[in-house]
Amino acid sequence: MILTNLKLINFRNYENLEINFSPEINFITGDNGSGKTNILEAISVISNLKSFRNINDNNIINWNKDSYYCSGEVSNSEFSRFEVGFSFQNNKPKKKIKIDSHEIKKVSDYYGKLITVNFIPTDINIINGSPELRRRYFDSVISKLYPDYIDELNKYKEICYSRNLILKKIKDNRGDLKLLEVWNKMFSDKASSILKKRKSFIIEFNKLFIKNYLKISGEDNSPYLNYITTLKSDDPDSILSEVNNNSRIDVRRGNTVYGPHRDDYIITNSDKIAFINYASQGQKRTASISLKFSEVEIIKILKNKKCIILVDDIFSELDEKRRNSMIDLLKNEGQIIFTMVNHFYDKNILSNSKQFFVNKGIVSDGLNN
Ligand SMILES: Nc1ncnc2c1ncn2[C@@H]1O[C@H](COP(=O)(O)OP(=O)(O)O)[C@@H](O)[C@H]1O
Ligand SMILES: [Mg+2]
Repeated sequence: MILTNLKLINFRNYENLEINFSPEINFITGDNGSGKTNILEAISVISNLKSFRNINDNNIINWNKDSYYCSGEVSNSEFSRFEVGFSFQNNKPKKKIKIDSHEIKKVSDYYGKLITVNFIPTDINIINGSPELRRRYFDSVISKLYPDYIDELNKYKEICYSRNLILKKIKDNRGDLKLLEVWNKMFSDKASSILKKRKSFIIEFNKLFIKNYLKISGEDNSPYLNYITTLKSDDPDSILSEVNNNSRIDVRRGNTVYGPHRDDYIITNSDKIAFINYASQGQKRTASISLKFSEVEIIKILKNKKCIILVDDIFSELDEKRRNSMIDLLKNEGQIIFTMVNHFYDKNILSNSKQFFVNKGIVSDGLNN
């Protein structure tokens, strides 16, 4: 998949921007605060319908306006034009999405068709941060591979929400235990399906993660990912009896205490010691980069597609050797769009690349090739 053209209207500090990318390597350079990350953010919005900055769409709209629009033209793909428009008027958010001029109503019909993988400085939080960040990350990868998974997650969320309302009512002696049984059954079926998908995904993903960690770190041993579940089984009947048994705890808390929404992915070494308890900062960075390399690879293997790779400013942390080896590793994996503060001068790499300079929201093409 190649992003050939990007258009932005009232997106962050760009009132009107059009960029034509190189199918191979692109470098976007400019001072801090000039708008480099905003360009990658726009591409991630077109790809995932949400920003990798994990904020609401109304923050993305240019401060003086009440809507934004972005579109991407793509080659080497079944579909060629992706559009996202968002408006926020009278406190009402409204998003309109299109593929090849047809309006799409369901996120799962849009997702997974224009696939990007982003390498961003906050990736380290997937390693260091809360379980929620890891669940969100792995759910997003699984969704890219299997868009129907988004519908399952949404359904599961709805079931938990309704079940929690009933639990609270029972706690206040206003609830119906028979009704709880119905929701327990629905909960068990959906939880089972999500658990099975996550488990089989993590087995495949781990193989790539271990391989990439060894390659990037040069160490002799690699840590690996463990999917830690709060439910004992992934079989729907066993889950149902577990949930029935746990109902008293759930009622007391007014909340669904166990389930895929409470699970975690923990990286350990072969002695089961948690990676975050022994790894250096550099090892953690290596692990987070390995996750992303593995994401690129699993998309290639399972979808038979090369994704678009977005690399935001992580170069400043790497020395020249690591920088070059990262470009080497990535350059045959798909089109790449890098952002960085300083210009990049390696003649061999620049021969197939395009360079852009950003200055206060104005982007000009470089004079490469
Ligand atoms: N909603 C918005 N409207 C207009 N400008 C914005 C908006 N959000 C952020 N900006 C501007 O975008 C700039 C930051 O862009 P960013 O892409 O993060 O910079 P960098 O080049 O350092 O990656 C800041 O100057 C900020 O003022
Ligand atoms: Mg930036």
